[in-house]
Amino acid sequence: MLQRTREDLPFKPDSSPRNYVCGGPIGRVQRPWTALRGRRRVGTSGVATTETYTSNTHLGGFDSLSVEEKRVEGLPLEGRLPEWLQGSLLRTGPARWEVGEQSLNHWFDGFAMLHRFAFKGGNVSYACRMVESRAYRAARETGEIAYSEFGTDPCRSLFARVFAMFSPKISDNPNVNLGWLGERFIAMTETPIPVEFDPETLAAAGVAYEAPGLLTTAHPHLDRDGGAMLNYAAKLGPRNRYRFFRLEPGSREPRVIAERPVREPAYMHSFGLSERWLVLAEFPFVVNPARIALSGRPYIENYRWKPELGTRFTLFDRHTGEATGPFETDAFFGFHHVNAFERDGELIVDVCVLKDAGVVAALYMERLRRGEPHPLAEVRRFRIDPAAGTVSHERLVPDGFDLPRINYGRCNERPYRCAWGVGVGASGWFDHIVRADVEAGSSKTWSEPDCFPGEPVFVARPGAEAEDDGVLLTLVFDGARGGTRLVVLDARSLEEIARAEAPHTIPYGFHGQFARA
Ligand SMILES: [Fe+2]
Repeated sequence: MLQRTREDLPFKPDSSPRNYVCGGPIGRVQRPWTALRGRRRVGTSGVATTETYTSNTHLGGFDSLSVEEKRVEGLPLEGRLPEWLQGSLLRTGPARWEVGEQSLNHWFDGFAMLHRFAFKGGNVSYACRMVESRAYRAARETGEIAYSEFGTDPCRSLFARVFAMFSPKISDNPNVNLGWLGERFIAMTETPIPVEFDPETLAAAGVAYEAPGLLTTAHPHLDRDGGAMLNYAAKLGPRNRYRFFRLEPGSREPRVIAERPVREPAYMHSFGLSERWLVLAEFPFVVNPARIALSGRPYIENYRWKPELGTRFTLFDRHTGEATGPFETDAFFGFHHVNAFERDGELIVDVCVLKDAGVVAALYMERLRRGEPHPLAEVRRFRIDPAAGTVSHERLVPDGFDLPRINYGRCNERPYRCAWGVGVGASGWFDHIVRADVEAGSSKTWSEPDCFPGEPVFVARPGAEAEDDGVLLTLVFDGARGGTRLVVLDARSLEEIARAEAPHTIPYGFHGQFARA
């Protein structure tokens, strides 16, 4: 992939830019709008080549959106949508980082907005709405940041900090991912209080359930039998525990199905699931929980990169809860598992990884709005032999990517061939879609000049036989003309099928799901 010098800074809390820390705002971000145009070629050979190092044309996707809610019927459409594509692409993401004179610091901190692109009769309609989380409501009513976010900490007393740590009074700003549990739609962040919402009106409808811990992931899995949710939680306090819990579709009461004590929990954004195992990958980005309460620093700035710990895989039997491992290998950092499955006595775990946790600091808004590059993730396959206690690893495909998607319904927990994601190219930001063939070890890409796609959501064609028979739905920011469009690609060829223009620029977000009609 694009091999270029990039500043992969190790995580240094004290050097991180912050617009707001205890003591008040340091100042509003001024965006250096220096668009240095260049050209790049992207081919289907699996390797993109760069002619000229470009451009800050992607920066408009970091602007806050001042809209509270909007509905538009019949978006301007080019191309022809497949007749079978009926349903809604639902997405969440940060939309606003400013509160009065204060600013939220990190990309992960912005107040959540839900978006819906609804496909019906060959047309696309759009709706969006800010999520009435208690964090957003408090900020709007007081004009100040009231709740701690990932990289922002409102000024609070020591008592308030400790109280916040050991009580559920923490942010519920659900800007990371969404999903459903039976008939209920749920928007999530990494705190234990996901927000239920109405998929038609996009209105928030209260706390969906409370996870059994202080931290959880916004990447739950669904059990194939009955649709129960499986997720991870970390219980922090005098004694810390990793936990996995199960939530039945009609229930609001999570049941802990596996747990293990841990001294310094690792930051965990997702986990793997095979037919037998819940797969915990502990990257060596760890925290002494007492620091969260006492340090006075935003939550994530209490974590420390300790590569000497390596990466540790612990496997929990899905049915008995029994743990095996940890199985140790080299130090990596990563947000997203791609897939996991068992084959010939091995457990295969595919993960988008980076060489260290510097990406966390790289995603502060001040750095992003300055045009500093996003570190490039690669897809790495870990082969774990539980009987021998060994782990080996290899790079899977030449094109690195993150925000991975697979044909989940068909392939999760099982051997698979295709994964899709977004790669960081010459722009320093996500500027191309990657389709990876993980069996062949090859990949191909889609891009347009000055265009910046987000996570490609795969939607299978009903009745499809091939794993990649379907479409990808991705939101693309057009840095040359401004604005965001929904682009529909053929998932196999990456050829464009259709595009629909959104009524405004949608700030770069994280994850979404397609709900069939
Ligand atoms: Fe994620």
